[in-house]
Amino acid sequence: MTKDIDIKRLREDALKSIKAAADAASLESLRVKFLGRKEGELTKILRSLKDFSIAEKKKIGPLANALRQEIESALSEKLKSLQAASHKLQADIDLTRPGRKVQRGSLHPLTSVEKEIREIFKSLNFSVVEGPEAESDYYNFDALNIPKDHPARDMWDTFWLRQNDGRTKEQKNKRTKRQGGGERLLLRTHTSPVQVRYMEQHKPPFQIIVPGRVFRYEATDASHETNFHQVEGLMVGKDANLANFKFVIREFFQRLFKRKLSIRLRPSYFPFVEPGLEVDIQCVKCGGNGCNICKNSGWLEVMGAGMVHPRVFEAAGYNPRDLQGFAFGLGLERIAMIKYNIPDIRLFYSGDLRFIKQF
Ligand code: PHE
Repeated sequence: MTKDIDIKRLREDALKSIKAAADAASLESLRVKFLGRKEGELTKILRSLKDFSIAEKKKIGPLANALRQEIESALSEKLKSLQAASHKLQADIDLTRPGRKVQRGSLHPLTSVEKEIREIFKSLNFSVVEGPEAESDYYNFDALNIPKDHPARDMWDTFWLRQNDGRTKEQKNKRTKRQGGGERLLLRTHTSPVQVRYMEQHKPPFQIIVPGRVFRYEATDASHETNFHQVEGLMVGKDANLANFKFVIREFFQRLFKRKLSIRLRPSYFPFVEPGLEVDIQCVKCGGNGCNICKNSGWLEVMGAGMVHPRVFEAAGYNPRDLQGFAFGLGLERIAMIKYNIPDIRLFYSGDLRFIKQF
């Protein structure tokens, strides 16, 4: 009778531990524990059968044998299911597979060049100033010594803005006849209007740069866009002069292109400077020997500049007898094209990933 109960307990114990086994090694030790040839718990029961009566043997023998089979198949079932689970795990996690790349954006080449330019000028003690893109006729032209109807206005092809100020067509026409159109707004054709805006609010000496977006109403081609960027520069003081300009601008280009280079100043005309200059730098690709970038001249034209015209100082409320200064304006796209060897200005705005992913 007691053997009866022993077998029942043994069965419960064995099946429970087999079910809970976590791996093949623990299954093996369970096999040894229950079915081991010497010390296996079931083996011991079977071995002791010889001491029992015939009737007991007949009863316990088959029970014990059945349990032996039950344990064996439970063990092999469990082993199979453990193996299947580990195969599944291996299929789900392929440790040899390359990791998924983190998608990271990068700065547009114009943004990074502008950032670099800002940093260089800041390190030369220039402040960075900005101004409005929709500008008045006055700041974009008149205050810069470009009077209405003066031919110099033809240097800039302008987007004029139609203003919705609540006046009817008739009222506008009346006003147009009497007052000559009033103050019109336009998309600024250059960053120079910020010169006057800044001078109206600040006392010299100072030195600023003005990065910003500008607009011109013209046909696009490899070197012209209707929308592009400039960086204006202005330094005003008691005796800020062209020698200072030459130093600052050469220093700037050398830091930007990370090499020693010569600059060349040529006489030119802009209504808001006198004298006016065109600035060339030694070709950064060939060093001046002549190549396709500089069209074999050895020089790259990079900016307009000059000494601030007395009329501009007057427009800003300064007395031109007390002050002098220089101004310059460079095209950001042009600089980026030279720096990165970009052949066509339209690529900057094309949204073409093949272009943009190179930076
Ligand atoms: N504003 C001029 C242009 O857009 C460039 C310039 C700036 C020239 C300052 C002289 C001085 O062409």
